[in-house]
Amino acid sequence: MVEAIEYPRTIAELSAETIVLLTPRVASEPTGRLWEINQASGGLISKLISDNVWTGAAGKVLELHFVAGLKASSLILVGMGELAKITAASAFQAAAAGAKAAASRKRSTVAFTADNLPETFHLQAIIGSLCGSVGQDLYRTERSLFPLDKIQWLDMPQKFVLEAEKTAASINWTRHMVNLPPNHLYPERFVELAEEFLQGTSVQIEVWDDRKLREQNCNALLAVAQGSIKPPRLMLVSYKPEAAPGEPGTKGAPIAIAGKGVTFDSGGLSLKPTDSMTTMKCDMAGAATAIGVIKLAAELKLKQPITVAVGLVENLISGNNFKLGDVIKSRQGKTIEILNTDAEGRVVLADVLDVLVERKPTAIVDLATLTGACVVALGTDITGIMGNDQQMIDQLRASADSAGEYAWPLPMYGFFNEQVASKIADIKNVGDGRWGGAITAAKFLENFIGNTPWCHLDIAGPAFLDKPKPWLDAGGTGCMVRTLIHWLKGPAGSIDGGVV
Ligand code: BES
Ligand code: MN
Ligand code: ZN
Repeated sequence: MVEAIEYPRTIAELSAETIVLLTPRVASEPTGRLWEINQASGGLISKLISDNVWTGAAGKVLELHFVAGLKASSLILVGMGELAKITAASAFQAAAAGAKAAASRKRSTVAFTADNLPETFHLQAIIGSLCGSVGQDLYRTERSLFPLDKIQWLDMPQKFVLEAEKTAASINWTRHMVNLPPNHLYPERFVELAEEFLQGTSVQIEVWDDRKLREQNCNALLAVAQGSIKPPRLMLVSYKPEAAPGEPGTKGAPIAIAGKGVTFDSGGLSLKPTDSMTTMKCDMAGAATAIGVIKLAAELKLKQPITVAVGLVENLISGNNFKLGDVIKSRQGKTIEILNTDAEGRVVLADVLDVLVERKPTAIVDLATLTGACVVALGTDITGIMGNDQQMIDQLRASADSAGEYAWPLPMYGFFNEQVASKIADIKNVGDGRWGGAITAAKFLENFIGNTPWCHLDIAGPAFLDKPKPWLDAGGTGCMVRTLIHWLKGPAGSIDGGVV
């Protein structure tokens, strides 16, 4: 729980057990709350500054105990770096680093405050304070992080606090889903947990089981699923904003979001080596993110109608696998030659995208941990953006900046299409070699988009951390929830469909 509280006369009177104070780089004398603490403590902060123990450098965290003059028994200072260089990303990370430091042990109440932080970054800072303390140690007897359950924010408008709380709930749910081990999370279970999470909101849910998927000719999705004894699912969720009193309901077409939900990716017959397979429970991150976003949109009562479709399968091995050389007729009608069963995400998405195209959305975004090649191209922290609509690409890039996330475009030149041409079918599910693999995967997807404005977000890098960051535990990150909700709140409404 997080609450915005009135500022007491001085910070010394705060009754919280721990104070987390975010401060920009300090030149010589402390200002703001840091100055107040300096006063209360008889000059402790001045001494720390003059001895170079505290500079406020970005990413620095210092915990002080039993500071004289403070009611709080512990004070955690977090540096935000040069004031002029603070970004939404660094504000989120600083607050999350403070929360993560505070989570090192159980604490009753933790009060946060940020000195001189520009208002544009307030929302992201509060969200950070609610994400940093949550870790992946779901099954450990001894916890390594103790999530903060009572947070106070000083001097923050209530509306930011409420919005941040809802946003963090979606991010942390997405992270939790990604962190669940693949023996506990398979397609049917994903649906159950998503239904539970969406309960109490106004969204409508439709679930396609294997029979319905066959009826609907989702042969591409089914081909990937057929090697597993766990049956596949396709989950459709739609959100329609409630009509304001006296106004007619929204008639507008929805924005559609597709999610790759491979609950485990062994690679299939094109089996992954152990080291690449160990983290492949993360291959449903796109699906979890899509559900996290639509729940948040409903909670925030966005004006934008949204439809989500997630394709849920396990990519395993059995006597009934899809094989290299198989040709599958997708739902949309195009035939796909399978030349690598580890390029399964695009095959699943082919049918999921077609289901969404049929509903005539104004635009489609898909989220997928699609290619290792995207991680080679952009590193582990950056989402790859590819699409057919420059306006939408620009909007999503800008939204990532504003929301404190990292996303960057990769080019979609037409000549890449030659690489997915097949000799026997309409297309093949791999490029001609490894080079440009993120782009050839996106080009494959483009075959199922028709004329709908569309962007593909390849989150193979940022969706899952192998190693912890100072501000976030390893495991699922919930990346792109903040970017997409920022986009849906504003820019998405103005997509005019100038498909390139
Ligand atoms: N799920 C993987 C991509 C991935 C890699 C996600 C690393 C997260 C981290 C995807 O299904 C895959 O295996 N892609 C292949 C495609 C190749 C066979 C054309 C890849 O990237 O190697
Ligand atoms: Mn794969
Ligand atoms: Zn995969």
